[in-house]
Order: sequence, then structure tokens, then C-alpha cells
Amino acid sequence: MSLLNEIEPLKQAALNELKAAADPAALEQTKGAWIGPHGKFTALMKQLGTLSKEEKPAAGKLINAAKVALEAALAERRSELELAAALPKEPADFSAPGRRRALGRLHPLTQVSEDIVRAFRKLGFAVADGPEIEDEYYCFDALNTPADHPARNSQDTFYLGGGQASRRSQTSEGKKSGADASPALLLRTHTSSVQIRVMEKQPPPVRIIVPGRVYRRDNADATHNPTFQQIEGLYVDKNVTVSDLKGTVEFVFKELLGEETKIRFRPHYFSYTEPSFEIDFSNALVKKLGKDWLEIAGCGMVHPQVFENVGYDPEIWTGWAFGFGIERIAMIRYGINDIRLFYENDVRFLKQF
Ligand code: DAH
Repeated sequence: MSLLNEIEPLKQAALNELKAAADPAALEQTKGAWIGPHGKFTALMKQLGTLSKEEKPAAGKLINAAKVALEAALAERRSELELAAALPKEPADFSAPGRRRALGRLHPLTQVSEDIVRAFRKLGFAVADGPEIEDEYYCFDALNTPADHPARNSQDTFYLGGGQASRRSQTSEGKKSGADASPALLLRTHTSSVQIRVMEKQPPPVRIIVPGRVYRRDNADATHNPTFQQIEGLYVDKNVTVSDLKGTVEFVFKELLGEETKIRFRPHYFSYTEPSFEIDFSNALVKKLGKDWLEIAGCGMVHPQVFENVGYDPEIWTGWAFGFGIERIAMIRYGINDIRLFYENDVRFLKQF
């Protein structure tokens, strides 16, 4: 058989083998067997030189065309095999449930805070808010807290630049004290400042709670953090008594810490309430800590001077207020022994709640 006649059958055989290659490795092997340096087709090309002058052009043309066809078949099979490798091995089941994204969750302090708010809402309290950068008037003076009170010491409070520190000028009248008086700015040490802001804006009766962040110059340890959260409560109406206060606090703590929770009031001093009390509570969790009672909140009947400061007539209006730390409640509820855990943003801690 002449060379010219060999080209076509050889090309067909090569094409068939290339198309049948089952995977990339087999394809490369087939390529080598036909058009590699020692391939059968390459051998054919080498014989071209042995042909006569007349036969050469036609054979050359045929061989070149065949080579182009083989290269094309190789490229096509290669991309077919690559595509097959990229497709999933198993057929997709479109009826299978979707993949869920991991959901975030609320911080434990937010959860506790929301529980407290929920309990007070049942009693008709509304949530109020106020600035964390506060001035001395709202944080102290209007709350009847004198300029020489230790809470106002720069060692205890974060003062910001600007404003006039009344603790330096030793006037306890703050904002109301005349011409140059723009009171010193500070990070609020308690949410009690919001009592004043709310009462200044609305006439009585008032029934609010104020969850929020507060700041003190404490070094962080297991029970202190320079920032923490409080909830303030304020109730102003006619003929409000200590028994209203006690009944309300008892209801809320039972909601929060269980039906068997007991509370007691101890006499105390706050400059914005008279009389003032500290609230202790007791339940199984407290007993577990080896104690009978745990101090949890401060409260009292709103001081007449505070009413005067916001323009309420203390002869007509009466009220009570309280404030407590949210971390304390969260720590007791969840058995957490270090307050700093709330502020480290360690997901291993946070995802337990
Ligand atoms: N402001 C107090 C504190 O930060 C808590 C407090 C005590 C708030 C008595 C009150 C109150 O409203 O009447 O420790």
C-alpha cells in the first residue's frame, strides 16, 4: 500500500482512539502513541521524504490536514474530560433541604436586659433612653448629689475635656449656676441621669425603665469592669408609697429569677432618694453560692429636691426609683464567675447562651 493510501485509515484509527480516551492520563498516552515524537503518525510524516516529486505535494497536504484534525480532536476530548471532572460525582438532589447558615445570637447581657424590660412592660412601664456622654448637672447636681460627693471625684469618673467642672469651682448648682456655667462632660456613672432628662421633658405621671451602659474608673477584676450595664426605674404619680416599690421589685425579681425568689429591703443612703434602701434577694442560686442574701439594687422614694429640680411640685407628686446592674443578674442566672467574660467577645463563651 502506498503511503498516500495509509494516511486516511491511520487518521481514522487515531481519531477513534482519541475520542475514546476515558480520562486525562489515557488521553495523554494516546496522544503520545500517535502524534508524539515516536508516534505512529509522526513516523508516517518522516516517510514523506521517500516519496517521488509527483506524490509529495498531495501526500503533504493530506498529512497536514490529518494533523490539524488530530490536534482538534485532542483539544476537544481534553476539554470534555476536564468538564466531566469538574461536575459533581453524585447527581444533585434538588428536593434536599438547603444548607442553613449559622445564625448569630444575642449577647447574654442583651438577653437578660430584654427579659427585665419584658417584665416591666407587663406593668405598663415604657423604655426611655439618654446619652452616655452626660454632663455633671444631669449625672449629679440635678440628682441632689453635692460637688464634694466621692462619686464625682476624678478618680471615680471619666471626665471629658470641655465644660466647667463644678467640682473644681465647688458650686453644687451645676448648670443652673449662672453665666459661665456649661457643666463638665463625663461618661455617665449611672442611668439615674435619665430620670432627670425624662422628667424635664414630660409632666407626671411617669412610668419608665432605662436600660443602658455606664462607666466608672474601676480596674477590671472578676467583679468590676470600667463599663457595665444598668437598669433604672422611675415611677411618679400621686400617693405612691414604699409598698408600691416593694411590690413592683418583688414581681420583677420573681419573673427574672424564679417564683421562689425572696427580697428584703435594708436602709441605705442615696442623695436622690429619701428614704433609701438596698435590695437583697435570696433563692436557690444564692444558697448555692453559700450565702443567704445577695445585694442586688439600690432604690428609694424620690427626694423632694429632685422633684423641685425638674419643676414637679413635691407636695402633689410622689415617686420611687431604683437602679441595678445587669451583669450581676446575668452572672447569677448563668453561674458566671467573672464579669470580664461579658466584654471579651470570645465566641466560645458567647455561644453557650
Ligand atoms: N444610681 C445608683 C448606682 O448606680 C443606683 C440607684 C440607687 C438608682 C437608688 C436609683 C435609686 O434610682 O433610687 O449605684
